[in-house]
Amino acid sequence: MKTKIIKIDKDNIERKKIEEITRAFSDGKLVVIPTETVYGLGANGLDEEACKNIFKAKGRPADNPLILHIAENSQLDELVSEIPELAKKCIDEFWPGPITMIFKRSDKIPNVVTAGLDTVAIRMPSHEIARAILKDCKLPIAAPSANLSGRPSPTAFKHVKEDLDGKVDIMVDGGVTNVGIESTVIDMTSNPPMILRPGGITYEDLKKIIPDVAVDNTTIDASDHAIPKSPGQKYRHYAPIADAYCFAGNLDGVVKEVNKRLKENSDKKVAVLATTETKDDYNGAYIVIDLGSRENMQEIAHNLFDALRKCDEEEVDLIYAEGFDFRGIGAGIMNRLLKACGGKLVLGL
Ligand code: TXA
Ligand code: MG
Repeated sequence: MKTKIIKIDKDNIERKKIEEITRAFSDGKLVVIPTETVYGLGANGLDEEACKNIFKAKGRPADNPLILHIAENSQLDELVSEIPELAKKCIDEFWPGPITMIFKRSDKIPNVVTAGLDTVAIRMPSHEIARAILKDCKLPIAAPSANLSGRPSPTAFKHVKEDLDGKVDIMVDGGVTNVGIESTVIDMTSNPPMILRPGGITYEDLKKIIPDVAVDNTTIDASDHAIPKSPGQKYRHYAPIADAYCFAGNLDGVVKEVNKRLKENSDKKVAVLATTETKDDYNGAYIVIDLGSRENMQEIAHNLFDALRKCDEEEVDLIYAEGFDFRGIGAGIMNRLLKACGGKLVLGL
């Protein structure tokens, strides 16, 4: 298939481009769109055949449900059978924004979207281009992250091109995404509501609205025996090709431990995922990637997936990644890092 690229400037969105994308969605086509978290691979969420094609294009297992993206609260009514009070509060507080809520589903949604579950994931993105498209087409757009299954989610247009060129009808080039890790997923059908995937809206943000908000503990345990409540979380997403390790603890101890291992593995190509504060401290590494300053965790989230892709490109044998605090967006960063490392966490003393 020949993929059409449509470049859109988020500060000057041209009407006719949006209308072309709306037509494509109505015709059952696959369109990659930017969101504030990561790029999404979208199709009309009420069109069963179109949604099946999402799974084909990504190589996604059929038991991993999709998120429906909407532009207005009123669209919820036809998609869910119930909106709990706490969900209403979260909607008022956090939508549009990087949080996905799980509701009891309505009968209108094709089974392929929910992977046969009786619940559905819904999100209202804040990205200007995504919003313009969703407002115009007035359809719930099913969209997983626009990567091939098993690769890190795309945060720049070049990542989308690497993974999906020739596999979708249209790819929108909207520049780099902002948050850089996927949305927070919270199950609003459980009591108390439970965070299934940490992301841009943090535990601390949610606690202000839901004081007893729960967290699925598999979000910090990426080992094999941990069975997550969210189907997609059981897959070892974001996995780089190289064997990866995350180092936690006191930063000096981490630098010391990583350097010790760099010496022991001097015959291997090792990438170190470091921070601005430490990037000059790793001499034996094949490549040192600066994720950004520890003072700015948003920047680190923003750069993480690009760094993991770079490790694949450089065909390194080993990745040593510095760990972070689980506070704020740090929880989302560590969740993705631990997945990338298959749960291999080393303490630097
Ligand atoms: O930021 C994001 O959420 C991006 C952008 C494109 O919106 N999308 C995204 O989609 O990350 P995806 O499919 O890569 O991740 C969706 C996650 C998966 O882990 C999936 O299993 C979970 O949400 N999910 C979807 N429906 C669910 C449901 N009914 N119950 C529990 N988990 C669900
Ligand atoms: Mg994904």
